Amino acid sequence: MKLNRLFRWLSLESSNMAIDLGTTNTLIYTKAGGVILDENSMVALHKETKELIEAGKEVIPMLGRTPKDIIISEPLEDGVIADFKVVEDMLRFFIEKVQKKKLFIRPKVLVAVPSGITPVEKKAVINTVQEAGAREVMLVSEPIAGAVGMSLPVKEPTGHMVIDIGGGTTEIAVIALSGIVNQVSIKIAGNELTDSIQTYLYDEYNMAIGKALAEKVKKDIGAAVTTAEDREMEISGRDLVDGLPKSIKIKTNEVYEAMKEALGLIKNAMKKALSETPPELASDIVEKGVFLTGGGALIRGIDKMIQEETDLKVKIADDPLRSVVLGAGIILDNIEENRNLLMESL
Ligand SMILES: Nc1ncnc2c1ncn2[C@@H]1O[C@H](COP(=O)(O)OP(=O)(O)OP(=O)(O)O)[C@@H](O)[C@H]1O
Ligand SMILES: [Mg+2]
Repeated sequence: MKLNRLFRWLSLESSNMAIDLGTTNTLIYTKAGGVILDENSMVALHKETKELIEAGKEVIPMLGRTPKDIIISEPLEDGVIADFKVVEDMLRFFIEKVQKKKLFIRPKVLVAVPSGITPVEKKAVINTVQEAGAREVMLVSEPIAGAVGMSLPVKEPTGHMVIDIGGGTTEIAVIALSGIVNQVSIKIAGNELTDSIQTYLYDEYNMAIGKALAEKVKKDIGAAVTTAEDREMEISGRDLVDGLPKSIKIKTNEVYEAMKEALGLIKNAMKKALSETPPELASDIVEKGVFLTGGGALIRGIDKMIQEETDLKVKIADDPLRSVVLGAGIILDNIEENRNLLMESL
């Protein structure tokens, strides 16, 4: 009997999950399996019934190729839930996917959320994750989780600046003594950079390309500084004048040109955050440098761009796409010691 109860407790504990519910990517961590899910925050739905057909990376090959009765949706916008029902279905799909071999146990879930989240948005996240199958929902702000994921000593008085360039939001936060001292969040991040490449091709070449190809251009040849090694890529799309397929070669300096304005807004947000940082912490930041995470940290030369703009040292996370979920996982695995890192639920 006692053994039974212990077994039940153990299986309950091992089912606990940390989730980074990002605008572009959703990741799930468990103590037993590490990062066991890393998928696009994207779903395919029946147009009429809104029933979920597929979620995650399996949706990518469907982009731009769906029959009329199927729609593709990204149910998070700028880091927050835009469509509750769809996020709930997507999360249930992911949770069931990672629990496939177990009995369905309702896990305790720690969710990383944007630091500027409103009380209404918090409530929506908690309800949605509960509806998707969680027994208990706790929240942590993304910059704190990201900082822990980068092994920064967030509980110490020394200030650290974390810059998380995600898909929907760029969050810049100064962290000390387990909390966020000041933060700036803007809705300009990876998606905006991708959009700006599409717009550039529209304006300069009268050409339309799909989002997936624009992403590839950004990742493969894009750069945040003019001094990056030049690369070239042949891309195909549709001519806007005659409607026919067309191919062109695009170079790094053009991609830079396309992204320049959005990158400028990210630079301004950084300068704002620095100007609002108390002097004691500013001197810590001069000493320690700034810590860069999120998928946007992978843009070629982004560290150089920040360094040139601010004169600060820049360190890129070892695994920028996973720092937040890994940090949330570390917090979850030692939840009693780390309660002070959590966000108030309401
Ligand atoms: N190698 C790369 N070069 C440039 N950008 C990249 C690279 N890899 C990923 N990205 C971009 O990173 C973004 C996704 O990053 P991330 O997964 O951190 O966002 P998210 O957590 O889903 O979004 P958010 O935190 O804003 O809610 C996308 O815009 C993607 O294009
Ligand atoms: Mg993120």
